[in-house]
Amino acid sequence: MATGQDQYTQWFLDAADGIYVYRADGTIVAANSLACKQLGYTQGELLQLNLYDIDAAAVISGIFGVKDGGDKIGWPYSSRRLLVRKDGYSEPVEIKINPVQNEKDTFIAVVRSVTEEISLERQLQQALKMEAIGTLAGGIAHDFNNILAVILGYGQIVKDQLPKDSATVKDVDQIINAGIRAADLIKQILTFSRQGNDEFKPLRIQYLIKEILRFLRASLPSTIELEKNLDPDCSVVLADPSQIHQVLMNLCTNAKHAIGENSGTLYIGLQDQEIPVPEELPCRPLISPGRYVVLTVKDDGHGMDDETMVRIFDPFYTTKGKETGTGLGLAIVYGIIRNLKGDITVSSRPGLGTEFNVYLPAVEGDFQAVAVQEKVVLPRGDERILVVDDEATICITIKRMLEKEGYNVTTCNSSLEAATIFRKQPESFDLVITDLTMPEMTGLELAREIESFQDDLPIILMSGFDHNVNKKRAADVGIRDYLTKPFTQRELAVMVRKVLEDV
Ligand SMILES: Nc1ncnc2c1ncn2[C@@H]1O[C@H](COP(=O)(O)OP(=O)(O)OP(=O)(O)O)[C@@H](O)[C@H]1O
Ligand SMILES: [Mg+2]
Repeated sequence: MATGQDQYTQWFLDAADGIYVYRADGTIVAANSLACKQLGYTQGELLQLNLYDIDAAAVISGIFGVKDGGDKIGWPYSSRRLLVRKDGYSEPVEIKINPVQNEKDTFIAVVRSVTEEISLERQLQQALKMEAIGTLAGGIAHDFNNILAVILGYGQIVKDQLPKDSATVKDVDQIINAGIRAADLIKQILTFSRQGNDEFKPLRIQYLIKEILRFLRASLPSTIELEKNLDPDCSVVLADPSQIHQVLMNLCTNAKHAIGENSGTLYIGLQDQEIPVPEELPCRPLISPGRYVVLTVKDDGHGMDDETMVRIFDPFYTTKGKETGTGLGLAIVYGIIRNLKGDITVSSRPGLGTEFNVYLPAVEGDFQAVAVQEKVVLPRGDERILVVDDEATICITIKRMLEKEGYNVTTCNSSLEAATIFRKQPESFDLVITDLTMPEMTGLELAREIESFQDDLPIILMSGFDHNVNKKRAADVGIRDYLTKPFTQRELAVMVRKVLEDV
């Protein structure tokens, strides 16, 4: 195939990056089709213009490179700039400039959009930042839950010892209630730090969302129109219904605030989407290709600028007054979604509104919902129970809680010692409750040791939060259930009875 001048021209015109040839005085000599599209001018218009006419401010900031920029720092001269279009919109681009050989004061600039790259970089930074905060919060939460277990346990014990008509009962109730509130806060922190003790169920969230929207409609002012488009045939996802509820409510509450007193529209969409070659999405989520259920929450409220957008998922970041916002809403949403192996993207412009897209991985197969039954009375028993925790106060709290229900309890503050007790008299216990994280020997190692002496002895594993225990391997060494600190007397009593009866 001959490669004549015409063909070179065609290749230049069709190139996938914007290409500009210009002189040092700003005259544009040539521009290809993408260059015209990038700036929003026709070819004819563009060639009539001078780079200085297009956007003086952009030129001053050096959008096409200072004339001799490359002479100083070396050719090709490259930088990231904002390209301002004819209609005023700007787009981040990467510009690479070379001087044209044998043509004095003439340059060729290749301009490529980096909008998507920047959005990905931001998402990655966000993921790393949340990871770090999560690790820190998780560590604190663990110790905090141990402390709360003691406060709540002793609070209950003191209350039980007081005569019913004592005025002090109310005071002790205040301690217990504050402890419960603190435990709730820790639970929220664990949600965004992704170390919660979650049990996911296969869900068709379209039904759930419909229900939530019915409730939401009632809480929206009549100036906000609620539009929805939920595909009834959406795939199943693995999730916790109360968490989906939390995600949707947080996103919708933010949208409601953004619309404020004005009239506006809140749009909720749900549909399956195949995530193909990632480049096709303008705002690509950090997830692998595959089938996803995508929840869209869109409003035409006040929107946000870039500066706000990079911080919205940070815990405690809020632009609302102290009374209105804690800044935890989106941090929790983010934590929940990443925990479900999904992702969330946001796009927004000041004055034009905001769109959030939540991607949840679809699961294949036919699923049945599992009904959960709750016991109402506190069950009792007289079995012999060994409680192992390196924190003496936890041991004593549990001992007193269980003795109240009739059990015969021995405590031990060292896992090594517990193993020795067992070796000496393997038949003297009906149940072991052990902490997971202990120095010398972990709860799992202790379970393995116990199992080698008495392989059918049931064990309950306790911890401040889920340590990613391999549940199958844990079951092999006798772990029958998991107790998360802090727990109530009821939770403990119900679990102990259930485990003892399942033997
Ligand atoms: N739909 C939206 N439109 C405009 N700005 C939003 C939108 N959603 C979130 N934001 C911005 O993100 C910030 C953080 O949101 P987030 O939900 O985490 O906290 P909050 O709403 O301020 O407080 P909280 O949810 O704890 O009551 C908000 O303060 C607001 O500036
Ligand atoms: Mg919020």
